[in-house]
Amino acid sequence: MPKRTLVTAALPYANGPIHIGHLAGVYVPADMYVRYKRLKGEEILFICGSDEHGVPITISADKEKVTPKAIVDRYHELNKKSFERLGISFDYYGRTSSEEHRKVSQEFFLHLLENGFIDTKEEPQLYDEEAKMFLPDRYVEGTCPVCSNPDARGDQCDNCGTYLNQTELINPRSKVSGSKPVVRPTKHWYFKLSAFQKDLENFIESYAGKWRDTVVQQARSWLKSGLQDRPITRDLDWGVPVPLEGAAGKVLYVWFDAPIGYVTATKEHLPDNWQYWWAEDKDLEWLCFLGKDNIVFHTIMFPAMQMGYNKDGSFTYRLTTNVPANEFMNLEGRKLSKSRGWTIEPHEILDRYDADIIRYTIACNLPESKDSDFSWKDLQAHTNNELADILGNYANRTLTFVKNNFDGKVPDAASDEQYLNSIGEAAKEIGSLYEKCRLREATAATFDIIRSANKYFNDHEPWKLIKSNRDDAAKVLRTCLEVLRAVSTYIAPILPNTSDRINGMLSIPAGKITWDNAHLALLTGHAPLGEIKVLFPKLENEQIEAELTRMQEMATKAEQQTAPVVSNAKITIDDFKKIKLKTAKVLEAEAVPKSKKLLKLQVAVGDERRQIVAGIAEKYTPESIVGKTIVIVANLESAKLMGIESQGMLLAVNDDKGVVSLITSEKESSDGLEVR
Ligand code: 2FM
Ligand code: ZN
Repeated sequence: MPKRTLVTAALPYANGPIHIGHLAGVYVPADMYVRYKRLKGEEILFICGSDEHGVPITISADKEKVTPKAIVDRYHELNKKSFERLGISFDYYGRTSSEEHRKVSQEFFLHLLENGFIDTKEEPQLYDEEAKMFLPDRYVEGTCPVCSNPDARGDQCDNCGTYLNQTELINPRSKVSGSKPVVRPTKHWYFKLSAFQKDLENFIESYAGKWRDTVVQQARSWLKSGLQDRPITRDLDWGVPVPLEGAAGKVLYVWFDAPIGYVTATKEHLPDNWQYWWAEDKDLEWLCFLGKDNIVFHTIMFPAMQMGYNKDGSFTYRLTTNVPANEFMNLEGRKLSKSRGWTIEPHEILDRYDADIIRYTIACNLPESKDSDFSWKDLQAHTNNELADILGNYANRTLTFVKNNFDGKVPDAASDEQYLNSIGEAAKEIGSLYEKCRLREATAATFDIIRSANKYFNDHEPWKLIKSNRDDAAKVLRTCLEVLRAVSTYIAPILPNTSDRINGMLSIPAGKITWDNAHLALLTGHAPLGEIKVLFPKLENEQIEAELTRMQEMATKAEQQTAPVVSNAKITIDDFKKIKLKTAKVLEAEAVPKSKKLLKLQVAVGDERRQIVAGIAEKYTPESIVGKTIVIVANLESAKLMGIESQGMLLAVNDDKGVVSLITSEKESSDGLEVR
């Protein structure tokens, strides 16, 4: 069978737009690699898709009061589109909420169960008595037992980095109802990861010295601390249901089904031939492109799942042959953070910038061995000094010279074989960098070729030659055109769009030329060239300043949204106008069970009906409040109090003894009126 390579890029969560950190860590390098391999004429399959399960998605859905499906539909489409606009050339982009994925994941689970690698355990877990549900890790917060951070999550403390078991949290609180959860036993299915300790050690050691050091080190450190069996189910109603009787309300853990998503996507793309890309075969390589936070899942967890699956010999999965994981990319010297508004999202900037200049700046700064940085000034410098002044200039001066002196046709002259061969040699070197996934160096070396081409043009002074020896000038320009054509192939993995545009100017159809033959003289004498266009307009300082200002503004806005309100700060009349106060008539009221303080009210606000939960039960009985015209904040984001939705807040006076009295309107006034 021919040598072939399956390339997967980590499936991004469909829980928000992808950002520039994802592009640098995963998708740009994966796409560069794949495009290089295609130019080599090798068989390659490039698979990705949306990771559509997991608790953060259900939390987003709760917050927005929409279904998880609505969230993943939105971001699946948005991210898919961004990838297309960026020229990330997946052969298939799937999604883990598909019906096929449910089948494939359930089959995988049942197969592991049959092979004896899954069993059940009853374990204590936090249960929200108000909301009547077990709380998955991220639905609980509390104080970290290690560093006392009051806002540690059920699975991890962001302050000290400790991985936690939710029952270890001090003073846990449910994010669903705000109440204090109780501990109850619940049954879960566990994957016997510990059974693969030895096999995984051998697996990882067989790649020591071949894979990136950081990857091997991380895998080793997990192995060193001894592998524990892992729960692979959760109490949730969003995910792949556990396909067993007695498992109602249980779904597979997102990290169990996500990597199976690679298999599903392949099956959806090639229903009759997917095994060609997954059955173990010495001629099949599988490269997993991902960021460092995903290493353990691709070097330990999923390989173990595959080993377990393979045990009975009915089908033998190909285990990964390389995990070229990247470190992180920072932004303007600061850690990228969506919640702090410190991020760049492609769907937003692609309206203003050519995707290729983003790809190129990322390629120059790939975080292959350590964290790197993206800055707007750097993007400007790479665009102006390299893309425009080196590549754009070379294309422009060569094509313009031919237009002015050779009637816009390829000079019918021999080219400088020696120079073209030297370029072919350089391209071979670059190819070996691609093979080793050293893509940052490959990018630099590619631009060295273009620098040398500019030097070739300068050294041969065709503007002088054309006057003294037209034949020699023809030879130089023929060579320069051939080099431009070769360059358009060599830049294609990094700058696919630009490559096509250069091919257009040279009037050659894309796709005929390979990495290995690109340096050969392939143009036809007298062939007319296409229209000359500027490849890269320069970026002005003002434009870059505007981007920096925009980022600062986003960060400030995010900070304001999370910062506590300072009570004595002055506000403007415009600030005040942002708050919509309205009169509302109380139609019904009832006590909230198990709560001394809360009343649940149904109110009329003009034509609208709303439910409001208010902490007034100690002063007002339900009967005493019905019929009153109260004042509410009508444009407040809804919230859940003890699991009950509250669509607004009523105004009341709280005296210093904690006694509450309602702000009401005069009897005759009606509801739905604005309070000013
Ligand atoms: O970290 C993440 O963004 C995950 N959604 C990656 C999943 S990769 C794979 F296993 F699907
Ligand atoms: Zn901590």
